[in-house]
Amino acid sequence: MSTDAIVLLKQDHKEIKRLFREFQSASTPKQRGDLVNKIIEELTVHTYIENEGMYPETRQLLPDLEDDVLESYEEHHVADVLCIELASMSPDDERFEAKTTVLIENVTHHIEEEEQEWFPKVREGLGRAKLQEIGERMLELKEKAPRRPTSPGALKKAIDALTA
Ligand SMILES: [Fe+2]
Ligand SMILES: [Fe+2]
Repeated sequence: MSTDAIVLLKQDHKEIKRLFREFQSASTPKQRGDLVNKIIEELTVHTYIENEGMYPETRQLLPDLEDDVLESYEEHHVADVLCIELASMSPDDERFEAKTTVLIENVTHHIEEEEQEWFPKVREGLGRAKLQEIGERMLELKEKAPRRPTSPGALKKAIDALTA
């Protein structure tokens, strides 16, 4: 199995987009609720490994990409807030489906930017060996990543950001 950081992140993206499509074709609130739980888990883990593993390293090694990294933090933050709200909401709530649609639109946009614009620059700037090293670290981070945004760390981070 490859430990290349970009390969690993693209695998996550693929699974996240698959869950988005399943949500879009789900027909009952129960199905939608179960899928949103899975989406929240995938996104929480993915955000954690990018925020702790990929972004800080890239920012440090490739200062030219700092603006991209800062924009990514903000895009993840918006997704975090939506996930926190969805995690405490019933699938029967009239805003549940609309909120999930906004989450899907935001995350899809972010994934496209990463894959089409950002990853090629990172691959060129960091090279193969460094990307494998970051990938290995991200696999370790994945083991201890929070799985729900309500875990105190994630919640506190989001609240701090909201009240900053
Ligand atoms: Fe990201
Ligand atoms: Fe990503």
